Amino acid sequence: MSNSHEGTITAARQFVQQQMPEDHTGHDYLHVERVWKMSKMIARECGANSTVVELAALFHDISDYKLNGGDEAIGPEIARQWIRTHTMSSDMADTVAQIILDIPYRGANSGNDLKLSIEAQCVQDADRLDAMGAIGIARAFAFGGALNQPMMSADIQPVLHRSFEEYKLRNGTTINHFYEKLLLLKDRMNTPFARKIAEQRHAFMLDFLESLSNETSLVFGFQKAAG
Ligand code: ADP
Ligand code: NI
Repeated sequence: MSNSHEGTITAARQFVQQQMPEDHTGHDYLHVERVWKMSKMIARECGANSTVVELAALFHDISDYKLNGGDEAIGPEIARQWIRTHTMSSDMADTVAQIILDIPYRGANSGNDLKLSIEAQCVQDADRLDAMGAIGIARAFAFGGALNQPMMSADIQPVLHRSFEEYKLRNGTTINHFYEKLLLLKDRMNTPFARKIAEQRHAFMLDFLESLSNETSLVFGFQKAAG
């Protein structure tokens, strides 16, 4: 058991790094480190509880539902047990587990009314920033490749999902994922600090999509019905 904040965080980083298998879907330990560092910065700006934010960031992808067969409860439970043992605080363990459950993206028109604590807002913003900009583009294509989904298609339209269930069943193209999620994130940032970074990363994704569209002679996004 470690009492100090630093001791707990160092132990958590070691545990998470050991637990996370080699991954080529964009959910590797380097993603976790980036989210951890970004969360810390956002938390400082917002005056959020740093231990809660850092632990939630470190554990947020310990067992992602997208990669573990669809079970959203496993990740929060692993975090809860580790934190209870290492901090002796059930409150801390429950708080962090709830954040991990609350922050995933649930579809364009779903989950937007969920009330998040300030700590959850920091971690969600940091996780979402890592899905945007140059790193977000790289991760989207890595994830798309792992799913074996087409990069792009003139025939498959993007969908604005109305429920988490619908979003989970999505099967489209990696380019459509930009219109179904990545380009929507800028206006859904919780904190002003993250929103500024999101604006830059958003602009970079638009530049990328414009070049890609020119190079491939494909039109991306929502097409108006003919007539
Ligand atoms: P969240 O927990 O909010 O769902 P994560 O941070 O766990 O988001 O990671 C989602 C990552 O996976 C993002 O980088 C996202 O672009 C990528 N991703 C998810 N679904 C798809 C998809 N259908 N096609 C391409 N990339 C995807
Ligand atoms: Ni993540």
